[in-house]
Amino acid sequence: MLYSDKVLEHFSNPHNVGDLPDADGVGEVGNAKCGDIMKMYLKIKDGVITDAKFKTFGCGAAIATSSMATDMIKGSTIEDALKLSNQAVVEALDGLPASKIHCSVLAEQAVKAALADYYRRQGVDPTPIVGPLPEEDACHLH
Ligand code: FES
Repeated sequence: MLYSDKVLEHFSNPHNVGDLPDADGVGEVGNAKCGDIMKMYLKIKDGVITDAKFKTFGCGAAIATSSMATDMIKGSTIEDALKLSNQAVVEALDGLPASKIHCSVLAEQAVKAALADYYRRQGVDPTPIVGPLPEEDACHLH
């Protein structure tokens, strides 16, 4: 079996799909490898992510990883959300085929981009906190 049961489950019934019209941070990233796009919406209160939703023009693996990633960051602090790596999301899904690992990076980068937007809206330079966003740069090349 190419995909784990958890991946198939999150792909067929993804959690947190949609947008948040009153989001505190919105991030959009493009995947340099396949050209797919992910948009992430976060609601943040007192340093805690209270809600997260995503929309994607991406493949099944991107949908499953974003579904899992949004589940994992909901209720967590910004610090913990920034530490969430695509490997941790892939592990939580019981793995992905090697050719699909790049799809999971989209979710991680979209969370970071949304947090960067959140800091920008507060007038804070996000770069020292969030770090560089290579996928965002790749997006502008298309
Ligand atoms: Fe583009 Fe998976 S093939 S995100």
